[in-house]
Amino acid sequence: MNASPLQPAQAPEGAVLYGGITNRRVTVRDLAKAKQAGERWAMLTAYDALTAGVFDEAGIPVLLVGDSAGNCHLGYETTVPVTMDQMVMLSAAVVRGTKRALIVGDMPFGSYQESPAQAMHNAARLMKEAGVGAVKLEGGERSARSIELLVEAGIPVMAHIGLTPQSVHAFGGYPVQGRGDEAAHQLLRDAKAVQQAGAFSVVLEAVPAELAAQVTEQLAVPTVGIGAGAGTDAQVLVWTDFAGMTAGRVPKFVKQYANLRSVLGDAAREFAADVSAGTFPAPEHTFK
Ligand code: KIV
Repeated sequence: MNASPLQPAQAPEGAVLYGGITNRRVTVRDLAKAKQAGERWAMLTAYDALTAGVFDEAGIPVLLVGDSAGNCHLGYETTVPVTMDQMVMLSAAVVRGTKRALIVGDMPFGSYQESPAQAMHNAARLMKEAGVGAVKLEGGERSARSIELLVEAGIPVMAHIGLTPQSVHAFGGYPVQGRGDEAAHQLLRDAKAVQQAGAFSVVLEAVPAELAAQVTEQLAVPTVGIGAGAGTDAQVLVWTDFAGMTAGRVPKFVKQYANLRSVLGDAAREFAADVSAGTFPAPEHTFK
């Protein structure tokens, strides 16, 4: 099997997403086909053109401009303070930095909860001003009417249920969701409600693995897990977590694939030491 970035070694033969979509962006129809073919895919967050370009070249088919930008990129403690203007700016940068990935723009807290009309207004901003191919919003049954309106208007919507970080203050932290019969039934109802409303995909965050697998089996649209075990159709990680850029502890469900924080820190220390010792710039870095 060809091991090019767009067709990684682990992709199944004839894979839809990793099988050679090289001259256009991935679409929500490609994701639907991947579900039918039993093909798993990866999604990463991105908040700027440079990093998004790296992931795009590596063949990551879907990039989420998450409102996790709040705590992972903009220095806030939670996602709650993130504004629409910030999401439009970050999403536009990610679109500019990529050629092939489907870019999903996250709707921040307060940009859609008021009414379906508010959701429509702000989703249209992400589509028109940033150029994203889809939007994501949190909530199951409670967001179904807004999802329906956006989908009717031609806006692909990724839903997000389970642990919804914009409700951090109501949850009192980031607890695992869907534990116990009633909570599990509610999660299933939420998943079915957003699918019924027309969502093309559903993020399941911090949900017991068995329950996430059950939801995945019962849905016709792909599920994207984060802290939801191995039984979902796709997996998403926050890029600063997966690449080892996050300071301090990362959640249990994160696998760190690199240690960029230490690589960058070492480079910065070496640069400062060279400057202080007078060994940078050397003659090869100097105009004669
Ligand atoms: O904002 C985000 O990064 C997210 C993912 C964790 C799914 O919503």
